[in-house]
Amino acid sequence: MEHTALTQAMARVPGPVTVVTTIDGTGKRWGFTANSFTSVSLDPPLVLVCLNKTASTHEAFTAADHFLINVLAHGEDGVARRFAQSGIDRFAAGDMEPCELGLPGSPGACVRVACSMHSVVDAGDHSILVGRVVDTCTNDRTPLVYYNRAFAHPATAADAGTVEPVKILHLADW
Ligand SMILES: Cc1cc2nc3c(=O)[nH]c(=O)nc-3n(C[C@H](O)[C@H](O)[C@H](O)COP(=O)(O)O)c2cc1C
Repeated sequence: MEHTALTQAMARVPGPVTVVTTIDGTGKRWGFTANSFTSVSLDPPLVLVCLNKTASTHEAFTAADHFLINVLAHGEDGVARRFAQSGIDRFAAGDMEPCELGLPGSPGACVRVACSMHSVVDAGDHSILVGRVVDTCTNDRTPLVYYNRAFAHPATAADAGTVEPVKILHLADW
């Protein structure tokens, strides 16, 4: 399997845009943009996010006791880009505030999921951070979506009249 075939296929799979944060033992904040977030188990409540082993944040996250997943909302694409950028202070903009577990969170996020580290699973060139959910925060904001290597957002009732309505096929139409 060629890398490009897999990345081209996965680019066509829409996913959430998250910023995952933690704080290390010295009080330093760490964060990275990730679209690999998904739920794993209800009992116990587990979620996961995949982190590239070459990332500058890898050591901090694989050693972390806790982490916070911020599911970004429509309009937060600047935050997503900044937390994916190398060689900068991703927190310098000052838009992350202490949230669940005291970890850095985006007040504009549509969902925040606070986790204790359940396990770190070795998976090829990535580590899978499996978190046990200890707290959540949700609101009605529209989520940001990553699709075809671009940021998008799902059409909602608020978009009525600005997007082509989807044709609903009833069983009788088949
Ligand atoms: C939309 C988007 C989604 C991303 N998803 C992931 C991901 O799930 N896992 C990951 O390790 N890196 C992901 N990245 C890349 C990281 O955010 C970051 O750019 C990379 O870890 C390099 O950062 P470094 O300078 O800390 O090494 C994503 C980047 C973008 C823009």
